[in-house]
This record gives sequence, C-alpha cells and structure tokens, in this order.
Amino acid sequence: MRILSIETSCDETAIAIVEAEGDEQHAEFTVLGNALLSQIDIHKEYGGVFPALAKREHAKNLVPILEAALEEAELLHEDMQVIPEEMRSAIAKILEREPGLEEQFFAFVSECEPPAIDAIAVTAGPGLEPALWVGINFAKALGLLWDTPLVAINHMEGHILSALASERSDLNARFQGRTLEIKDAQLPVLALLISGGHTELVLMQEWLQYEIIGQTRDDAVGEAFDKVARMLNLPYPGGPEVSRLAETVRTEGRTHDITLPRPMLHDATCDFSFAGLKTAVLYMLKAKTDITAKEKEHIAHEFENAVADVLWKKTSRALTETNARTLVIGGGVSANTHIRRTFAEKMSQEYPSVALHIPAASLTTDNAIMIALAGFYRARREDVAKDILASGNLSLASK
Ligand code: KG4
Ligand code: ZN
Repeated sequence: MRILSIETSCDETAIAIVEAEGDEQHAEFTVLGNALLSQIDIHKEYGGVFPALAKREHAKNLVPILEAALEEAELLHEDMQVIPEEMRSAIAKILEREPGLEEQFFAFVSECEPPAIDAIAVTAGPGLEPALWVGINFAKALGLLWDTPLVAINHMEGHILSALASERSDLNARFQGRTLEIKDAQLPVLALLISGGHTELVLMQEWLQYEIIGQTRDDAVGEAFDKVARMLNLPYPGGPEVSRLAETVRTEGRTHDITLPRPMLHDATCDFSFAGLKTAVLYMLKAKTDITAKEKEHIAHEFENAVADVLWKKTSRALTETNARTLVIGGGVSANTHIRRTFAEKMSQEYPSVALHIPAASLTTDNAIMIALAGFYRARREDVAKDILASGNLSLASK
C-alpha cells in the first residue's frame, strides 16, 4: 500500500510518500519521498509559534513540498490534465479559506499525472487548528481530484508508532529509499510522550487502542524547556539550547549548589506538573541581580536533571502498575541527550526485561513519515474518513 502523508500541526510543513506492507506483527515501510520545511527561523522572532503565520506558511509551502516529495519518489510525471468544471469548483470551495493555496494547487495539478497512491493520511490533531486545517483541506482537495481515500491521523499516534520503528540497514533492492520496520512489538506498550504541547503516559493494551494513565496538570515538558530558555535569554526553540548548556556542566564535571524542586515526584499518580519547576527558575533568576554564563549553565543543568528525575520516576511507576513489556518515548523532547541516557541506564538496571524504544534522532521531531506509519495501520483497518475536522485538543483516548 502506498501512502501519501501530510503533517501541518505546528511549525513543520511535511509530506512523505511511503510504501508499506505487512501487518501488526511485522510491517515494513520504505520511504520513497520525504520533504519537510521547518518554519523555526520565521517563528524565532516571536519566541514561539505564531498560529496565523504558521497557517500562511503552510499554505505557501504545501504545493512545493508535495512536488519535492513526488519527485523524490519518482512519481512526478508531467501530463496536461483536464479538470472538469464541477470538480474545479468543488475543490475551489474546499480551498477557499486557505489564501494562496488554490492558485498554486490548480497550477500544479493541471500539469501532473495523478500519482499511484492508495491513501492520503493527514494529521487531524492535536495541534494548532488554523495550521491543521490547511493540511486537511489540502488532503481533501487531492483526495477528491485523485479519487483517493483519506485517513485522519492523531499526531500523537504517529509519535508512538515512529518510536516503535527501527531502521533497516539491509537496504532492499526494490526501492532506493530508507526502510523502517515495526516488528514483534510486545504488548502492553507504554508510551511516554514528551513534546511542546504534551506530556503524557499512554498505555496501548491492544494494538492502536489507547488509555491515558498520566498527564501534565499544567505545562508540557517541552513548553517548560522553552520557557526556561527564554528566561535565560536563549533562542527558540529552547529545549536543545538548555540541553547544550547543561551538557557542558556534565562534560566538565563541574559541581554547583543550585537546587530546584521535583514537582509531584512522590505523589501516588502518574501525573506530572512542570509549572512549579519553571516558576522556581523564575524566582531564582529574580533573586539574582547579575548572572554569569556559568550560573546559567548550572541552572540549565539542574533544571534538566529535575525534569529527567520526574519523567523517570513517573514512568517507572507506570511500568510497575501496568506490567508493560515495551516502553517507547516519543515527541520532540525525546531528542534530549540526558533524558535518553537516563532512560537507557535506568531501564537496563531496573527493567531489563522491558524493551526500550527511543526513535532515531531524525524521527523525534515532527515529520510526515510518522503520519504515514499511522496511516498504514489505519488504512489497513479501513478506518477511512468521510469527513475530517481539525481538532486542536484531539486525545488518543477518544479514538
Ligand atoms: O514534538 P515536537 O517537535 O512538536 C510538538 O508537537 O510540540 O516537540 C517540540 C518540543 C519543543 O518544546 C522543543 O524545545 C523540544 O521539543 N525539544 C527539546 C529538544 N529538542 C526539541 N527539548 C529538550 N531537549 C532537546 N534536545
Ligand atoms: Zn509532535
């Protein structure tokens, strides 16, 4: 099955084309085309993602990204197309709220032979609604024109499944792309999802069925990283910056006496709270009139240690409570070196029989390959969408 996937939930415009086969025991995914444009540089000056700007950028970039993905997949064949008037006006209606997209859309599809695609998977949520709508409307327009079924994807499911995937190095002969596989995942799978918008522990008892067993009561962990970074005058997105400062303290083996709280470490739930930790950093900075570069590094170091301690403690509680046999970590914050290292060490010491999956660095941040993986399993189940609505707060538990 060949899937074209579209991801526009936040500040990445991404389209992938993935050839997928297999089943829930063993599936293989060959990435035929993968194009991604990050808007990070554009949002930097606002210190965060600015939704109206994200929407405009997606609308501007979707057609060129599609073209690039199709070209890489060798599915871009020029051919004049006659689009019947009725079809044209139905598509114009779908795209009427996406200024700038309609014109590019028609210019492109009028000269492009419909590619051999079996399903179009698109992120329906969670994320920024104006941004999600652009991707959804684009998917609808393509689906109508190419007579291809649509599959609505929960972005967080994409993070979970891409964390379960591993790269196959024995490149197969049929395609030149890279091949991922998801094989023999042992249920229950526990997923720790850590991103700019989410911090949750999700249990998959049955394949593609989710239960949220813990979540943040206030800020998401990525949000806390970004806010602390801003307090330390570091550029957006702050996670990697805070992490870089913290690592210098570790590599130089420096000690210091900065201490920060570990909120909810000992309470009896699998929930998290990061607002208090962030506020503790704020008060600490307010109390200092002058702050040296070294002190900043010490704060970053202690902050990152506190985050890793809390994430580990809560995940450990959840592992014990659920008897999970697999742990996956997904979302942008799973790129964090210290968190990856902490989990790798603790898992081998304390839960040696539980398989740990952390995605390859290139799959941790938002991308369209993860949407294609989810799209494959959903399409296999004929979970085809008649209509798709953007849902900013879409939860994994609501499927
Ligand atoms: O999953 P993602 O790409 O987008 C959302 O769906 O939110 O996650 C982005 C978040 C940002 O808050 C960013 O600061 C954080 O992931 N992040 C990191 C690191 N790399 C990205 N946080 C800590 N350490 C990192 N190395
Ligand atoms: Zn994400």
